[in-house]
Amino acid sequence: MASASTLIVLLFFLSMLLMSLTSQEKDNENFDEWISLNVKHYNSRKRETSLKWMQESIKHKKQHAPPAPVSSSLDPKLIYAEMNKMIISVSQDGSGNFNTIKEALASIPLYNKRRVILDIKPGVYREKINIPRSLPFVTFRGDSSNPPRITGNDTASATGTGGTPLKTFQSATVSVDADYFIAINVIFENTAPHVVGTAGEQAVALRISGNKAAFYNCSFYGSQDTLYDHKGLHYFNNCFIQGSVDFIFGYGRSLYENCQLNSVAKKVASLTAQKRTNSSILSGFSFKNSTITGTGSVYLGRAWGDYSRVIFSYTYMDNIVLPLGWNDWGKTIRDSRVYYGEYRCSGPGANMTGRVPWARILNDEEAMPFIETYYVDGNSWLMHPY
Ligand SMILES: *[C@@H]1O[C@H](CO)[C@@H](O)[C@H](O)[C@H]1NC(C)=O
Ligand SMILES: *[C@@H]1O[C@H](CO)[C@@H](O)[C@H](O)[C@H]1NC(C)=O
Ligand SMILES: *[C@@H]1O[C@H](CO)[C@@H](O)[C@H](O)[C@H]1NC(C)=O
Ligand SMILES: *[C@@H]1O[C@H](CO)[C@@H](O)[C@H](O)[C@H]1NC(C)=O
Ligand SMILES: *[C@@H]1O[C@H](CO)[C@@H](O)[C@H](O)[C@H]1NC(C)=O
Repeated sequence: MASASTLIVLLFFLSMLLMSLTSQEKDNENFDEWISLNVKHYNSRKRETSLKWMQESIKHKKQHAPPAPVSSSLDPKLIYAEMNKMIISVSQDGSGNFNTIKEALASIPLYNKRRVILDIKPGVYREKINIPRSLPFVTFRGDSSNPPRITGNDTASATGTGGTPLKTFQSATVSVDADYFIAINVIFENTAPHVVGTAGEQAVALRISGNKAAFYNCSFYGSQDTLYDHKGLHYFNNCFIQGSVDFIFGYGRSLYENCQLNSVAKKVASLTAQKRTNSSILSGFSFKNSTITGTGSVYLGRAWGDYSRVIFSYTYMDNIVLPLGWNDWGKTIRDSRVYYGEYRCSGPGANMTGRVPWARILNDEEAMPFIETYYVDGNSWLMHPY
């Protein structure tokens, strides 16, 4: 029996290999074209920006030097992974290769070098998922007209397998420790409610700790601590993120473009809690061309670390944004250390009249490092998602 099932698995992978080989020629054409366009563009921008920064730092030594882009061409292992990509399907009605996301992930060999796209059919998936470091290059792909919902309700105070509380880190419905993760058209959810005045209700929908991760057309629903942008380079495009308290938080160095941030805070709260603890750490959240909406009043950010860094550019802010704008979490020493910048934002919440004096209105040059994909070194790893 064991040999029969081994044979089936083998045949399955062989057929996948053949499928990807036949479609490879066409893919490669687009891929090469994309690389040449994007990398060329990147290199010219990179020269331009490094030159400006050099001139800037010669003029006056800056405490908050913007991060320099670190590399200039696509990661070779990413090119290999992309050229050898394969697709497996997940469907709860038995019509896919697997019935659960967990089973599909378990089928991928450890330290796999190919991009593996999980084509996840519509449905509500009650699964607690961890993608370990040993599974890089995984993509979750849903249907934009009916995206799959991955849901859970663990909280920081819920009891884990060892009988101890899970804590915020382990409360995530989906946690990703692997590099090169991509999600397209997927809903990540944690339904645990946040009751004002009770402790231990941090309830993460998604934790992303892997490096070089991208999210397109995804939604993140939660209350306290919805999106744990833990660490690494991350890119979010056209995403919807909802929560109440600190609902985007962590040490990540991330660019959020065209996103909607929706507050459901029942009591004054903060939209972000960025944790940058040292001025030499290249982390910080940059929101571009996004909108801030919702029902509960929020600060744009509160300083989790002394050098917390958050930038909003071209963003519409509804009147739920408090006039003060930013919060130092009760530690005035942070007022001179955080980097909280706003650039060309609009809407009633973007009025700078009542802002804390240590909020920065960025000029073009100051804003530049944060408002393109080079902020996350994107041109070494951001791919067209299909
Ligand atoms: C979490 O969800 C499970 C399964 O749906 C349910 O049995 C449980 O009561 C929920 N827990 C809380 C605290 O809502
Ligand atoms: C995002 O969703 C829109 C429809 O809302 C769709 O046109 C677009 O192709 C999607 N993007 C990706 C990357 O799938
Ligand atoms: C800004 O975001 C909106 C809504 O997400 C999108 O339709 C528009 O194309 C974006 N504009 C730019 C310049 O990216
Ligand atoms: C930041 O980290 C560097 C390297 O670890 C260290 O040398 C420096 O003192 C730190 N700076 C602050 C302000 O903590
Ligand atoms: C900004 O707020 C101040 C104080 O509330 C107000 O006087 C001013 O008209 C506002 N500016 C705009 C452009 O709405």
